[in-house]
Amino acid sequence: MLVITLINQKGGAGKSTIARGLLSAASAAGISCGFLDTDKTENLVQWAGRATVAGNWSDKVEAFKTLNPQEAREMVLDLEDEGDLDLFIVDTPGDANELHDQLATVSDLILCPIQPSTSDLSTAVGTANWMYRMRTRVEDPTALPPFRAAINRVGSKPTKTESGVMLHARANKLVGDGKSPPVEKLKFVPRYVQQRDAYRRMDEEGLLDRMIQTEKTRKERYFKNPKHLQDALDEMTEFLDLCLEIAEANNG
Ligand SMILES: Nc1ncnc2c1ncn2[C@@H]1O[C@H](COP(=O)(O)OP(=O)(O)OP(=O)(O)O)[C@@H](O)[C@H]1O
Ligand SMILES: [Mg+2]
Repeated sequence: MLVITLINQKGGAGKSTIARGLLSAASAAGISCGFLDTDKTENLVQWAGRATVAGNWSDKVEAFKTLNPQEAREMVLDLEDEGDLDLFIVDTPGDANELHDQLATVSDLILCPIQPSTSDLSTAVGTANWMYRMRTRVEDPTALPPFRAAINRVGSKPTKTESGVMLHARANKLVGDGKSPPVEKLKFVPRYVQQRDAYRRMDEEGLLDRMIQTEKTRKERYFKNPKHLQDALDEMTEFLDLCLEIAEANNG
């Protein structure tokens, strides 16, 4: 089982959105998957509820929640032992240091979504620094998962500022322990996620692949064009594949 944990010390950058997108892509690809919601707002749990009501959920996606850091870690380890799931997505709230610490060592990839802005970029560096410093706190630092920032909500035509931030991000940002001069580059998932209405609809209605099926069965011709949903699902499928590649490299 590969575990992808979404962490960003700042809120609102797209953790839950990326979690929903990854679950949609995994479900569409027939990957047995589940999620753990550790946010008290129950963003993912409530989404699964809305999706079920709308007929856009899949029983094959398993849902778990806990607010307790220790329990979160144990849940992941138990599911790993059971071996029924191939992919597990963990969504976390912004300010939850103990939770992040507990989850880091049982994850295969830490994903940190950020928007293409200078301030978001520095929160990614801050979050990456936390991972870096964990090396001194765990028994076996080589067991720590890779960390990747993921640039989210890029416009279909990036503005000058956005393009500037993205170029600058890849070229310059360094990560370290905050004491000695940083030596490591901040790493990114090599694919942006676009700003899309489809992701807002996904939040309202459910898994993207199920929404596409629902749309196709509607009587009104007007609705029978789920292309924008398919584009979003394709984007998330590519994004998931890249994440799995990084996580698998770490796992194996
Ligand atoms: N790629 C995207 N396209 C369109 N809307 C997006 C995208 N990513 C995020 N959003 C919107 O931005 C808002 C914040 O996103 P989201 O809830 O995923 O962030 P978060 O990191 O989980 O926030 P929190 O820390 O509060 O849990 C939501 O309204 C979401 O619909
Ligand atoms: Mg969230």
